[in-house]
Amino acid sequence: GKVAVVFGTRPEIIKQAPVLHALGADGARVFTGQHYDPELTDAVLRSCGLEPLARAVEGVGGGTRAQQVARMVDRLADRFTRQRPRAVVVQGDTNTANAGAQAGHYLGIPVVHVEAGLRSHDRSMPEETNRLLISALADVHCAATPENARNLLDGAVPAGSVFVTGNPVVEAVTALCPSEEETARLLAEHGVAPGGVVATVHRPENTDDPARLGVLLDGLGRLGVPVALPLHPRTRKALAAWGVAVPAAVRVLPPVDYRTFLAFTRSAHLLVSDSGGVQEEVTVLRKPLVVVRTSTERPESVAAGFSVLSEPADLVEHAERMLSAESLARIAAAPSPYGDGLAAQRIATLARDGAVVLQQV
Ligand code: UD1
Ligand code: UDP
Repeated sequence: GKVAVVFGTRPEIIKQAPVLHALGADGARVFTGQHYDPELTDAVLRSCGLEPLARAVEGVGGGTRAQQVARMVDRLADRFTRQRPRAVVVQGDTNTANAGAQAGHYLGIPVVHVEAGLRSHDRSMPEETNRLLISALADVHCAATPENARNLLDGAVPAGSVFVTGNPVVEAVTALCPSEEETARLLAEHGVAPGGVVATVHRPENTDDPARLGVLLDGLGRLGVPVALPLHPRTRKALAAWGVAVPAAVRVLPPVDYRTFLAFTRSAHLLVSDSGGVQEEVTVLRKPLVVVRTSTERPESVAAGFSVLSEPADLVEHAERMLSAESLARIAAAPSPYGDGLAAQRIATLARDGAVVLQQV
C-alpha cells in the first residue's frame, strides 16, 4: 500500500506538503477537513502544490473536541481499512493528528509522527494532550531538534524509534518564499506597506478571553507602524462576538495563501503572533517575533534569539527589546534550530520503511 499522509488544518497542509512531494507516487493525500472554511485551506493547498485534492473526509470540522476527534477516528479508520496504507504519517499536535494516530494504531498500521517531542508542559492546551497521546501511539517519532528527542526519551519513548530529522517547515519556506519582485507585487495586491508589523492570532487563550483579546488589539495599535492582521475565522468571530475595537493602525485581512504570508513575513520588520509555525519560520527568514503566549513548546526559537514570550499588556515593551541593535545583530547571525532542509526526505524514507522499523522496536 501507499503511505497515507494525514492533514486537516492550515499548518499541517504547509508542513506535510514537503513530505508528500518527497514521497511522490508512494504518498496518498488524506485531508480530514478539520479546517472546513475554503478561505483557510483552498489558497494554502494551491500555494503548497497540493491541488487537485481528493475529497475531504466529510463533516469532521467544528463541533466539540470530542465530536471532532471521534468522527475523524471513525472515518479515517474506514478509509484505512479500505486502502490498507503501509504507514500513516501524522504531523504536529492537532485533533486531526491525534485522530490519525489513533485510527492507524487501532488497525495495526505503523504510525509515523512528524514534529514529535514538542512539550509546552501546559495541560490546559488541547495541543499538549494531543502531543502526549500521539507520542504514546506512534511507532516512529521524527523529532525536529535534539531537545525534542530528549523530551520523548524522558517520556519513556523507546530510543530506537526516535529520529532527529529536522522540521519540514524549513523546506516549505525555502521552496516557496517569493522573490523580491514577487514580494513587492503581493504586498501591493493586498495593500500592505513594506516594513510594518505582521500579526496573527488564533489560540483559544487569546481568542476566548475578551479582556485579553482587547489588550492584545490595543497593544498592536500602539506599535507605531501599520499592522497587517490576516485573521483566522475563529478570531474574526471572537472580535465580533466580544465587540472588541480594532485600532486604526491595524488592518484586518482575510487569511492569505502561504506564498503571500511568506512575502508579508520577509518584508516585515517585526512579527507578533501566537502561531506555532510562525515561531519556526522566523528562524529561517531571520525576523524578530513577539510570541503572545504564556508558554511555548518551541524554546529553541527563544534561545536562539528569534522570539520572546510576552503577555499582551507587555507587547510594546517586548517589541522594542526585540528591535534593539543587539537583538537584530543576533538574529542576523543565528542559524535556524529547525534543520538543514532535508527533513522531508528523511521522513519519507522512514515512512516507506515504517513496517520494518515497527518490527525492530
Ligand atoms: C486548530 C488546531 C491548532 C492549530 C490551528 C491552526 C486543534 C486542537 N487545534 O485550531 O493546534 O494551531 O488549527 O490554525 O486541533 N473555525 C472556522 N472555520 C474553520 C475552522 C475553524 O470558523 O475552517 C472556527 C470555528 O468556530 C471552530 C473554531 O474555529 O469551532 C475552532 O476550530 P478547530 O478546528 O477546533 O481549531 P483551531 O482553532 O482552528
Ligand atoms: N499562514 C498563512 N496565511 C495566513 C496566516 C498564516 O499561510 O494568513 C501560515 C503561516 O506561515 C504558518 C501557518 O500558516 O506556516 C501557521 O498556521 P496557524 O498559525 O494557523 O497554526 P499553528 O502553526 O499555530 O498551528
